[in-house]
Amino acid sequence: MFLIISTVLLASLATAQYPEGSRYTPPISPGRGNWSQAYASARQFVCNLTLTEKVNLTTQTGTGATNTYQLGIIPRVGFRGLALDDSPTGVRGTDYSSAFTAPLNMAMTWDRELIYAQAFANGAEHRDKGVNIAYSPVVGPLGRAPEGGRNWEGYSPDPYLSGVSFGLTVAGMNAGGTIAVGKHFVLYEQEHFRQRIEWNSYDLPGVEFNITEPYSANTDDRTLHELYLWPWYDAVHDGMAAVMCSYNRVNGTQACQNNHLLNGILKGEMGFQGFVVSDDGSQHSGVLSSLAGMDMTILGETSPNGVEGLGISFWGPNLTQSVLNDSVPEWRLDDMATRIMAAYYYLGQDEGFPELNFAQGDLDTYGHLYPHAMEDFTQINQHVDVRDHHAEVIRRVGANSIVMLKNTDHALPLMSPRQLAVIGEDAGPSLFGPNGCADRGCDNGTLAMGWGSGSTNFPYLVDPLSAIQHRALEDGTVVQYVLDNYDTSLIDSVVSQAEACLVFVNADSGEGYIEVDGNYGDRNNLTAWMRGDELINEVAGNCSNTIVVAHTPGPILMEPWIQNPNVTAVLMAGLPGQESGNSLVDVLYGTVTPSGKLPWTIGKKREDYGTDVMYIPDGPEPNLNFTEGLFIDYRHFDQAGIEPRFEFGYGMSYTTFSYSNLRVDAVDASNASIGNDEPTHTVHSQMTANPTICPHHTTKLNASAYTFPSTISSVSDYIYPYLPRNSSLTTGPAYPSASVYAERSDIPAGGASALWDDVYIVSATISNTGETAGQEVAQLYLSLGHGEPVRQLRGFNKTCIEAGKDAEVSFTLRRRDLSIWNSPSQAWVDVRGLGGDVGVFVGASSRDLRLNGTIPAMINAKNGDHGGTVGQKGHSSLTTNDSTPFVTELSDGQPEVPVVTKRVL
Ligand SMILES: *[C@@H]1O[C@H](CO)[C@@H](O)[C@H](O)[C@H]1NC(C)=O
Ligand SMILES: *[C@@H]1O[C@H](CO)[C@@H](O)[C@H](O)[C@H]1NC(C)=O
Ligand SMILES: *[C@@H]1O[C@H](CO)[C@@H](O)[C@H](O)[C@H]1NC(C)=O
Ligand SMILES: *[C@@H]1O[C@H](CO)[C@@H](O)[C@H](O)[C@H]1NC(C)=O
Ligand SMILES: *[C@@H]1O[C@H](CO)[C@@H](O)[C@H](O)[C@H]1NC(C)=O
Ligand SMILES: *[C@@H]1O[C@H](CO)[C@@H](O)[C@H](O)[C@H]1NC(C)=O
Ligand SMILES: *[C@@H]1O[C@H](CO)[C@@H](O)[C@H](O)[C@H]1NC(C)=O
Ligand SMILES: *[C@@H]1O[C@H](CO)[C@@H](O)[C@H](O)[C@H]1NC(C)=O
Repeated sequence: MFLIISTVLLASLATAQYPEGSRYTPPISPGRGNWSQAYASARQFVCNLTLTEKVNLTTQTGTGATNTYQLGIIPRVGFRGLALDDSPTGVRGTDYSSAFTAPLNMAMTWDRELIYAQAFANGAEHRDKGVNIAYSPVVGPLGRAPEGGRNWEGYSPDPYLSGVSFGLTVAGMNAGGTIAVGKHFVLYEQEHFRQRIEWNSYDLPGVEFNITEPYSANTDDRTLHELYLWPWYDAVHDGMAAVMCSYNRVNGTQACQNNHLLNGILKGEMGFQGFVVSDDGSQHSGVLSSLAGMDMTILGETSPNGVEGLGISFWGPNLTQSVLNDSVPEWRLDDMATRIMAAYYYLGQDEGFPELNFAQGDLDTYGHLYPHAMEDFTQINQHVDVRDHHAEVIRRVGANSIVMLKNTDHALPLMSPRQLAVIGEDAGPSLFGPNGCADRGCDNGTLAMGWGSGSTNFPYLVDPLSAIQHRALEDGTVVQYVLDNYDTSLIDSVVSQAEACLVFVNADSGEGYIEVDGNYGDRNNLTAWMRGDELINEVAGNCSNTIVVAHTPGPILMEPWIQNPNVTAVLMAGLPGQESGNSLVDVLYGTVTPSGKLPWTIGKKREDYGTDVMYIPDGPEPNLNFTEGLFIDYRHFDQAGIEPRFEFGYGMSYTTFSYSNLRVDAVDASNASIGNDEPTHTVHSQMTANPTICPHHTTKLNASAYTFPSTISSVSDYIYPYLPRNSSLTTGPAYPSASVYAERSDIPAGGASALWDDVYIVSATISNTGETAGQEVAQLYLSLGHGEPVRQLRGFNKTCIEAGKDAEVSFTLRRRDLSIWNSPSQAWVDVRGLGGDVGVFVGASSRDLRLNGTIPAMINAKNGDHGGTVGQKGHSSLTTNDSTPFVTELSDGQPEVPVVTKRVL
């Protein structure tokens, strides 16, 4: 897969006018297949460590203890520890680093090379700042509800598009040199009630929250697998070495101490080799979280946001104690430390990794090394410029992500207009500068990033107005503008003189710890902010060529103005990062032909989505029941027969394309590649096993070996691994009996490399029937039957085609693309064995389907036909856990059900 990608990359870079030899030419992804080596090195390192040294690797040192989050300093062996930081949009809280586009825009490009290129650049910047572990990328939230505050940090509510994007981002960031942390595992789909303290401190007018637990996200096993876990399979396959578990509970159990999720599904079923780290405040227990499979704690402290528990940890000294008193077996601690160090070796961080050279959140050159304790005044920021030529990647992602939804009478591209009007606060700079509000927690001036921990500082922000003026000078265009959304009469007079009127609107969202204009992370509504709808109609009332540009974290409703004939063009620009204006101008003036496609549906009204955020808790322990099952976004619109305004996958170009020559070809089973990604690390989902990571466990010494050494002086509220001085060793309860947390005696789908075998190739011819070169995102949808959505995305291919020319595009279907999750057997089942043909559709969007064909059911499913699968007999009925039958009853004599499972070599 990566070989193919890198070849394509080289080809595309050749046409991209990137400076030769620049750093962002992504090399082939490292690491795949190197886990066994990484584990060998990790074992060698970890098995020589003492108990407190191993604990050091698992526990961060606390809020503000050190100037950037760190852990794992082991002076005895000269290990300087690991540094950690956010975010998906860049290195958080520093200077001389880039502000990338939101991951949303990466998805809007549907362009594998650009996704990988930007991820690589972000990874490289983290690395060059000395960050070993970066909290990015995001696929939880997936985007169940369009109002979800953090959706823009991820990609799309479609699991296939998200899976490709998430996997490529992991691979790209890893290749850039930092350990990409996939987050948040799992079902973290809204901000409201994600944490107790945070939400109880919010008092809305007339409402006082008093929750005792974070919400529990509850969904059936099949939905969990086919929607919310799907992208995680991609990331594991693409080399994800770290995962962050989420704030919410799942089925009533805190995600970070959910044995079924972490040990059972993530490490067992998926064969994840890396480590699991908590979010800031998502760890709710010491012993249970260790036993359930959590491996590292940030910030190390007990309480959400570190508010209550400064310097107090569930781990640190408590973990040392738990191992000493047998509450946690020492092999589990070995496993935690080994998984962390394996990730480090997997990325090759043991060679030439730069030292941490900045202080998160502090731009000063000099400051305290221990800011909370106000100790050790020294140089804390070397202001290393890590931006390289990444601005060009950002600009390209921005331009190629713009989705054109309307373009009547060739309103766009602009052709040397005599006079332009630029209207709306979102067009210009903020009075407070691009970094005027902490963590971008406000909506002032043009919007280029959402708010929260997924944000970063802008090194500069090219606002649309400056970029437009700069470009307009070339044509001698007169540019008038009004940035005050409320000055109606001035707006009227300016737009009535213009040949084209660009009106800018936005909507914002972010993380739940910040409130903006009454929006507590999640959006309160799906409309444009700051009277955007009225603004557009006012402009259109006096300008027959009104071009709307929207900067948003997700869909906005457009009904008040979309059919206004004076609204001649509409561009959705997402949250484009530092190059916002330049990317926009590229499309406005036709330097780049628009090629983005919607990664979600734009509905006509909020209710049409069928899912929403829970804004008022349904009790002290809120329950978020995903009763819609598989039917979110377009899956729901299709199922319920609701006409959207613009469907998933939609997006226009300055040229036109036609589709022909559909071919659907089976891949010769004997050519199926043999999976080389077999998990090499023993799966520890069963605590009954007693895996031996290290040959000798530390012999327990007397307490003084674990208490605070007299040789170091402690920094206040800093988390060390030591027991308090004068502690005595007490023997506590032995860890719970295996049955408490080992739910399954075996994991049929474990590793499941056969899922990745190629089984079908679908191809088609796309012709550029217009007058300009352009890129088309051809999309493949399947109708799988058996209770599955009407159609679901299972392939896409973005191709650049010259005017009047054709291109062959192909889509490779892997076995997983034809499989559904069978809960009773805990396995993926290939639908071809279940009877009924699979419908194949190729087109320009989820509703603009130009070609169709079929993939036949397998009459006699035997091994060989679908190489490496294991037939499974004897299922008299297959039902989901919630007892909804989803396949027809099978009896003897009917086709065997091909269960996709681990290849038997
Ligand atoms: C401890 O380190 C030594 C020297 O690096 C190495 O040879 C040995 O294998 C390590 N011990 C274990 C148990 O891995
Ligand atoms: C643990 O880390 C701290 C720094 O965070 C260091 O001072 C201490 O020596 C380390 N302990 C061990 C046992 O390596
Ligand atoms: C919140 O609820 C808990 C238990 O449900 C109760 O003990 C407590 O008094 C409540 N606090 C407030 C401020 O209502
Ligand atoms: C949650 O409960 C449902 C219904 O019992 C079950 O199907 C599903 O597997 C459970 N999921 C998890 C992650 O425990
Ligand atoms: C150990 O954890 C408990 C919470 O379970 C906490 O109250 C205590 O302060 C912790 N001890 C240390 C030394 O952090
Ligand atoms: C800045 O943004 C905040 C929050 O969105 C808003 O309340 C405030 O009015 C804005 N300030 C200006 C000058 O626009
Ligand atoms: C939607 O929310 C935004 C931001 O809070 C606000 O400006 C706007 O007026 C709201 N829209 C409606 C229709 O209430
Ligand atoms: C369209 O614009 C013209 C002015 O250019 C105006 O007379 C007309 O009323 C507008 N139509 C609408 C529907 O706003």
